[in-house]
Amino acid sequence: MHVVHTIAELRERLAPFRRPAFVPTMGNLHDGHIALVRQARALGDVTVASIFVNRLQFLPHEDFDRYPRTFADDTAKLQAAGCDLLFAPDEAELYPQPQTCKVHPPAALADLLEGRFRPGFYVGVCTVVMKLFACVQPRVAVFGKKDYQQLLVIRDMVRQFALPIEVVAGEVERAGDGLALSSRNRYLSPAERAEAVQLQAALRDLAARVAAGMPAADAEAQACAQLAARGWQPDYLTVRRRSDLQPPAAGEPLVALGAARLGATRLIDAIEL
Ligand code: PAF
Repeated sequence: MHVVHTIAELRERLAPFRRPAFVPTMGNLHDGHIALVRQARALGDVTVASIFVNRLQFLPHEDFDRYPRTFADDTAKLQAAGCDLLFAPDEAELYPQPQTCKVHPPAALADLLEGRFRPGFYVGVCTVVMKLFACVQPRVAVFGKKDYQQLLVIRDMVRQFALPIEVVAGEVERAGDGLALSSRNRYLSPAERAEAVQLQAALRDLAARVAAGMPAADAEAQACAQLAARGWQPDYLTVRRRSDLQPPAAGEPLVALGAARLGATRLIDAIEL
């Protein structure tokens, strides 16, 4: 695997290829990322990953500075997964001047759920992903379904800007007890780690209640109360239409989405029903 830090080197390395398959990341890689890289390998003629902790998608009080940076470990994992090229720019390379030109995704999709609790988050995500797409010029890009709303927001951006990129979804990778793999899991104390599986359990209970005919608002309130009683601070637990994350309508494929804080750590999860 080649590791490049500049856009010029990246373009030079990619020049011979017609169909780069791309997995953008913020590093601190776990098996969820590695599954996306393996998936990407089957989709293109060269597999590219990026590692860039994107300041633009962190709110002022969030964990940008303490976000785990584990470059040597990440590089070894990508190499073992068969990644061909790693693009790891520093901030001066990707944002040489303040990135005042930004991508604002539509409020109807991006200002609800995560966007409501993390205002500006998807502006930061879309802006960096647009820029990474411009650097890598992939034909395929793989995004995980744990960040379900992110996947939809990026798909919509690609469609609206007619970017020649196929956005492929990767399934959520889970630990043995069902906890969705996430870089933020490493912040959990042993007791919190044992408790963390309850987010997924609450989403499954919520889905079961909605499937049994309980009004979604009642089932969502119960799910939040269920977690709050165990000491969590839930932001939202909800069942939505998969296509646009609007409230469910009969007969349409649904997804249960949740975000809740356990101690100092905010976890999210998504389960397609
Ligand atoms: O999902 C992530 O890790 C980030 O939001 C992404 C897509 C790499 C953009 O910084």
